[in-house]
Amino acid sequence: MSDTAQQTRYVTPADHQQFVQDVLVANGVPKDNAVIISHCLLQADLRGVDTHGANRIPSNIERIRHKILDPTAEPQLRQVTSVAAQVDGKNGFGFLAADMGMQRAIEMAQEAGIGLVSVKHSNHYGMAAWIVQKAIDANMMALVFTNSSPAQPAWGSREKRMGVSPLACGAPAQNDARPFILDMAPSVVARGKIYKALRRGVSIPGDWALDSEGKPTTDPARALEGVMLPMGGPKGSALSIMMDVFSGVFSGSAFAGHVGGPYDFSKTADVGHFFVAIKPDLFMSLAEFKSRMQYLYERVTTGVKAEGVDRIYFPGEIELMNKEKRLQEGIPFTQPEIDAMNKEAERAGVPLLKYS
Ligand SMILES: NC(=O)c1ccc[n+]([C@@H]2O[C@H](COP(=O)([O-])OP(=O)(O)OC[C@H]3O[C@@H](n4cnc5c(N)ncnc54)[C@H](O)[C@@H]3O)[C@@H](O)[C@H]2O)c1
Repeated sequence: MSDTAQQTRYVTPADHQQFVQDVLVANGVPKDNAVIISHCLLQADLRGVDTHGANRIPSNIERIRHKILDPTAEPQLRQVTSVAAQVDGKNGFGFLAADMGMQRAIEMAQEAGIGLVSVKHSNHYGMAAWIVQKAIDANMMALVFTNSSPAQPAWGSREKRMGVSPLACGAPAQNDARPFILDMAPSVVARGKIYKALRRGVSIPGDWALDSEGKPTTDPARALEGVMLPMGGPKGSALSIMMDVFSGVFSGSAFAGHVGGPYDFSKTADVGHFFVAIKPDLFMSLAEFKSRMQYLYERVTTGVKAEGVDRIYFPGEIELMNKEKRLQEGIPFTQPEIDAMNKEAERAGVPLLKYS
């Protein structure tokens, strides 16, 4: 990639949201829904999860053009018991079904201490941490699971049948700026990091993926033809199966390798999700829970450092530090990434994404 292409451009959060909303509305998404989706994509880019932010707009719009993602769909909620509900995503944006699902889980937990929501017929919801943060903002603990398109083999196989489906969870903290947020793909890294390397024309570490012949590769294009490697061998593989049990089998959505991929324009995705919200003050006061979380934070981050380590972080802390920085400095993109997004703006006849 040329030096100009590698130069960093900065986009303000306000311009980011405006651009995403304009493109979505021009492609048939109702304004209120475009606001929710733009919030989710902005959170990913602010937290440094660039693999799941506004760069995903072109592929999502392509799915709308291929009529495999319904821009007008409204998710539908069905209460099943006092603590369990189901959302039918109606093949609309996954962000909308997830937002409705976690909202209902929170309301049930406020009433009954716990709320479980299963989501079917949904789409990719990007970075899972925004859903965890939604629960934390309501002073709730949360489990956030999804399944996804096949990208990873079961341990011992070289054929992709499982997703690199992220497992996420979190809990509120005394210091609201440092809640516990774990959001991790069960692969060595998220597949989005390989798409990002491909976009940026750089190679990848040799332990991320195998090519189509089952050999380790540093070439992102060859890696995308092959399989992602699970983290921790059979344990990462088992976690991706766990995501499929709770999100796919349980919900009635696709599973076992049949979920459609975000870059596969030949079929609908039929993703399933699984959310649980839990009231943290079931067994003690909220103040005591938060004080115990603070003690945990301090114990975790003040241990004796291993050689070469500058600082010990709490899960989710690096992403929150990114967010604090990017809110000040803007969100970095490369010029080819800006150009790809602006192609959609041109096509939709809306103002181009502003950057400096
Ligand atoms: N929707 C989907 O289908 C889908 C699929 C795959 C991935 N994703 C998203 O991709 C994103 C990236 O996933 P990933 O597995 O590459 O994440 P990652 O490896 O960057 O981080 C995983 C977790 O480890 C924590 N962590 C990382 N470095 C740390 C450190 N030095 N100290 C303490 N904690 C640390 C992070 O806070 C995070 O909670 C996630 O947001 C995930 O939701 C989404």
